[in-house]
Amino acid sequence: MAASIASLQAIQIIDSRGNPTVSVEVTLSDGSVGEASVPSGASTGEFEAVELRDGDSRRFRGKGVTRAVDNVNSKIAAAVKGLDAFDQEGLDRRLIELDGTKNKGSLGANAILGVSLAVAHARAASAGKELYQVILEPKEIILPVPMVNVINGGAHANNSLDIQEFMLVPHGAPTYSEGLRYAAETFHALGDLLRDDGYSTAVGDEGGYAPRFESTELAFDFLLRAIEKAGYKPGESISLALDVASSELVEKDGSSTMYRFEKSTGESMTASQLISVYEDWMSKYPIVSIEDGLGENDWEGWKEITARLGSKVQLVGDDLFVTNTERLAQGIEMHVGNSILVKLNQIGTLTETLEAIKLAQSNRYTAVISHRSGETSDTTIADLAVATSAGQIKTGSMCRAERMAKYNRLLWIEAKSGGKAKYATPFA
Ligand code: PGA
Ligand code: ZN
Repeated sequence: MAASIASLQAIQIIDSRGNPTVSVEVTLSDGSVGEASVPSGASTGEFEAVELRDGDSRRFRGKGVTRAVDNVNSKIAAAVKGLDAFDQEGLDRRLIELDGTKNKGSLGANAILGVSLAVAHARAASAGKELYQVILEPKEIILPVPMVNVINGGAHANNSLDIQEFMLVPHGAPTYSEGLRYAAETFHALGDLLRDDGYSTAVGDEGGYAPRFESTELAFDFLLRAIEKAGYKPGESISLALDVASSELVEKDGSSTMYRFEKSTGESMTASQLISVYEDWMSKYPIVSIEDGLGENDWEGWKEITARLGSKVQLVGDDLFVTNTERLAQGIEMHVGNSILVKLNQIGTLTETLEAIKLAQSNRYTAVISHRSGETSDTTIADLAVATSAGQIKTGSMCRAERMAKYNRLLWIEAKSGGKAKYATPFA
């Protein structure tokens, strides 16, 4: 079954936000072809691997990726030709070594990830298997509970909401496809309620509505009403999850970290006060998960939120952990958070991503597989969720084809499992 890397080609394509990104096609010695495209964040963490951009303001506002593309077509192609496509780890180690920096700033994590994933796809084609089977053959097919981001705020929408993401979590559904139906029906019910009250139903970067709500509470109120209008029980069939993306709210006041609700009330809070706000929301609304409740450098705040809320709610580190085993190990050591958000392009290779998931799972942290706010039609993350039995995926709302592509790929995996696929139970 051995096949080696015969040739690589990268081109610059345009992502869901109209910005350039890297797309890679690889051909193996047996003629098998694999393709992958790289996503891009807006609320990126300070500690993420480097997304190499051209910086030429005359082209694509400086966001071109022709340097990353050239790196694939020249240096990387020369270095990986002839490598065994069935040795993902060997390939990824070679890419890391070739880059030679800690943050992949030399070749670009966008260049490296495109190659790492394209080879995994080619391997699946060569073996005649599903992608998830050649990432890590799972013992069982466990489909993730979707976290469906139906209201967008923060850096993803031009509105008055400080919280970046309000998500529906249909954990009470019997199957993945039923969970997706619950979410789609609730998404439409929410649209009806917004229209009835004269709010905009235009959507943000991840396909959630982006109304100009007067308060955060109003967002919760609409969500609960939408769940009920669609015929479901809040907290039973569908709960809520938040991504506060609070690194975006941080303002340094001397040596102390303050958080400011800049887009809505203008209020400034300490970490302790912000945790009390979450506590208040948790007492009123069925919230099962809070992502980036505190900032990426606020380890003390994270210790406090974990001590106060960690036994009641999933606390997900996105900008905090950046899919990086060193930062996650520090978090585990410090008893910070209980879950990691997993974004392939935060770290830059499939192998390192799998290592982060493994470290989390072996320390009883959950892993939530995630898209980025700038996406393509690439569906690799759906297979990653199944390969690792992660149990949760967040990949946007119930519209925008680049989001639905991932959810729909999971529907195909469910359908092709011949009734064997199970729906995960992270909040049972
Ligand atoms: P990003 O947002 O892709 O803009 O970083 C997603 C998230 O914060 O989870
Ligand atoms: Zn996040």
